[in-house]
Amino acid sequence: MAAVSLAGKRVLLVVSGSVAAYKALELARLLGKAGAEVTGLLTAGGARFVTPHALQAITGRPLATDLWSLEEEAERGHIRLARSQDLVVVAPASADRLARMAAGLADDLAGAVLLAWGGPVLVAPAMNPSMWSHPATGANVATLMARGVTFIGPDDGPMAEAESGVGRLSEPPAIFAAIAAILEDPDHGAPDAALEAALDAAIAGITGEAEAPRAATTSDSSFTASAGPPAEAAAHHVPPNTAHASSFSASFSPAAAGNGDAASHAVAGTLPGGLPLSGKRVLVTSGPTHEPLDPVRYIANRSSGKQGHAIAAALAALGAEVVLVSGPVTVPDPAGVDVRRIEAARDMLAACEAALPVDAAVCAAAVADWRPAEAATQKMKKGEDQAAPPLALVPNPDILATLSRHASRPRLVVGFAAETEKVVEHARAKLARKGCDWIVANDVSGDAMGGDANTVHLVTPGGVEDWPRLPKGEVAARLADRIAEALH
Ligand code: CTP
Repeated sequence: MAAVSLAGKRVLLVVSGSVAAYKALELARLLGKAGAEVTGLLTAGGARFVTPHALQAITGRPLATDLWSLEEEAERGHIRLARSQDLVVVAPASADRLARMAAGLADDLAGAVLLAWGGPVLVAPAMNPSMWSHPATGANVATLMARGVTFIGPDDGPMAEAESGVGRLSEPPAIFAAIAAILEDPDHGAPDAALEAALDAAIAGITGEAEAPRAATTSDSSFTASAGPPAEAAAHHVPPNTAHASSFSASFSPAAAGNGDAASHAVAGTLPGGLPLSGKRVLVTSGPTHEPLDPVRYIANRSSGKQGHAIAAALAALGAEVVLVSGPVTVPDPAGVDVRRIEAARDMLAACEAALPVDAAVCAAAVADWRPAEAATQKMKKGEDQAAPPLALVPNPDILATLSRHASRPRLVVGFAAETEKVVEHARAKLARKGCDWIVANDVSGDAMGGDANTVHLVTPGGVEDWPRLPKGEVAARLADRIAEALH
């Protein structure tokens, strides 16, 4: 990531009210480090979570906060603020901000700028999981996506108030990667010529002056034009924010998040040449398998599916078309992922093979190694003597090994290894035995099974990377980054 240069790129970072707003500071730092000129725009809600001083200090540029500030409006005006950017990023975007954007409200500076802006918009939502999965939010997201807004996240993971689920702001490096992908795509960085002309006409009509050409607006000094128009006038003169709607679609469809309908989670489209995994198809297995003894009993394990689901979400956030083959879990379906639910290992294998060809496969499922030799078709009854029936087990197919040696083998096959001791040693042996490319060796001596954090080692033929103990969402984000690198 350090190699990415965003020198001279202008990013307006809108920070709205969310506990995750502090992460916007890290995002601003990453953008600044890459050479981008970041202007912070703090909404009233955002200012309750981060201070204007912090955002201004990190961006090193005058902060925008208030539509009605005579000083700010005189210095640059909200229309000019919108016009002088290459990208507008809303991170975090609260549920309220998404609703305002969908409705086109312009009663604060962020609303007015977003309405006046005709170029690309990247939104990173952050909210409580039940707010994210509410149909109202889904409808707002769908509206924005139809207008060409790109979404990244939200991620699955621990939230404020000891909750957990889909709603976490994507990690700053992932948002940074999405920003870089948009800015590096010539189709997205360029302003729309027709909209530019309309904006020029609108500004000239309102202010009575001709607008300087956009190419000249490369620094703050260009903001010292005459006072901008009142918000209402501007909003009426500016054409709808549709300039880029046809040229890119969102990377996934959060509108369907959490509604339990696997079919509606189909990937909505990808950013052409944009996000790191655009155009790539990835298979992920997750959760346990249930191996039936009879219609009411089964053999299972404690896998929660949190890690596998987080990986699917992280891959989708990078633009991949993700097929998630999941055993029975209670974690919600990740947004924008094609979820195929199965129960037993043999069904998981069939679903995985049906998903081929894929560019990469990540086998994070805790597949039961054995299944009962025979599953009774009727509920097994206790005999007179109450004796326990004999339990004969047979091995299940090894999905990871099968995919690794498949005629349609994915270019990259990644397995997991749950180990309590000699973690790396066992993982190396597994790499050879299963024929996969990487093993994510998972130290389960602590609370990894079902917990929210993981300590992993990435074992490849080239060596071993020891990752620190991280939330599962961050393990997923790092792994997705590595997969994106490998597939390029
Ligand atoms: N796996 C699979 N199909 C199986 C068994 C395992 O795809 N029938 C995959 C898992 O998804 C994981 C890796 O193989 O990626 C784990 O390998 P496994 O041999 O089951 O290792 P452990 O669970 O760590 O168990 P063991 O202690 O037997 O090595």
